[in-house]
Amino acid sequence: MAASTTSFVLDIWYFAGLSSDVKPGKMVRREIAGEPITLGRDEDGTVFALRDICPHRAAPLSSGCVKSGTVECPYHGWRFGIKDGACKDIPALCDGQEMETGKIKVRTFPTQEKGRLIWVFISSDKRFAGVPDIKPPSFPFASRKATLDDSLTLNCHVDHAVIGLMDPAHGPYVHRQWWWRSEHSMHEKTKEFAPAERGFTMVAHSPSSNSFAYKLLGGKPVTEITFRLPGIRTEKIKVGKKTVLSFTAVTPMDESRTQIRQIFFTDHGLFKALSPLIRIGAKVFLRQDAHMVNLQQMGLAYDPTLMLVEDSDTQAKWYFSLKKAWAKSCESGAAFVNPVKAKTLRWRS
Ligand code: FES
Ligand SMILES: [Fe+2]
Repeated sequence: MAASTTSFVLDIWYFAGLSSDVKPGKMVRREIAGEPITLGRDEDGTVFALRDICPHRAAPLSSGCVKSGTVECPYHGWRFGIKDGACKDIPALCDGQEMETGKIKVRTFPTQEKGRLIWVFISSDKRFAGVPDIKPPSFPFASRKATLDDSLTLNCHVDHAVIGLMDPAHGPYVHRQWWWRSEHSMHEKTKEFAPAERGFTMVAHSPSSNSFAYKLLGGKPVTEITFRLPGIRTEKIKVGKKTVLSFTAVTPMDESRTQIRQIFFTDHGLFKALSPLIRIGAKVFLRQDAHMVNLQQMGLAYDPTLMLVEDSDTQAKWYFSLKKAWAKSCESGAAFVNPVKAKTLRWRS
């Protein structure tokens, strides 16, 4: 089966950042699925998202300021409502120069803040301004302060980033280091998978004996890894009563740039104590992935046919079929049917 890079997943909630990214009265710029977005918070705490292009002459609204329920453009001071995106004021107009400013609109994006996670809904209908009929995924454990937070931009289409991160076969080659694993520690693995909401789960299991990093946690860690559309991977590691949640959002910025944000939430004392060390390890790990997908671009530039082979590439196949099924259900209005069936996968890594 050939891996194809198609457009982005739409009509879905994208992770846009942590609550602490957007202070009251401030804005930050985001690029999500080809849309420039100013993500902001008004003075009383409400999060909002508007297209980051002023309808007057395209200045980025994110460089302007938030003023009592509106965003003021930094160029000529036009103001737009944070809820409806309608223009409320054009300061350069004189008395007698009446204009129906409210007809000038910036696109608004539905937003939700749950726990410490902010979600933005990207609709395929650019005029969509209602309430989406699906909810963002829920991660109750992510309502505590993040212990680690790292982000990186990859120079590739989101599909390559997603299938690269979920691919189990690259570990011993891309992440070859004493504290993780080596080519020599490779052995056959058997993992159970089950469908999950808009994705699939590698059901709870004890991590491989060749994963040194897990040993740091002590006890008998049990890990459960879930992937869901559009590109949210979570790994929940339980050690006794304690939890480490690794939350990774893989977000397309545009066709050739992808943002990866990796955040750890935990109540595990030792993990917290060791977090400066773990931070270094996690950074190295993510940058090894980034280096590989950047290298891969050398080949992809020639648009070769790609292969997805046997069980080690089955998760990638599932990703493409999930994407397809999602697009089909959004287009037809029919309920989304998860194409993933429970399955045992075997590979060597
Ligand atoms: S470009 Fe925004 S007000 Fe002129
Ligand atoms: Fe990797």
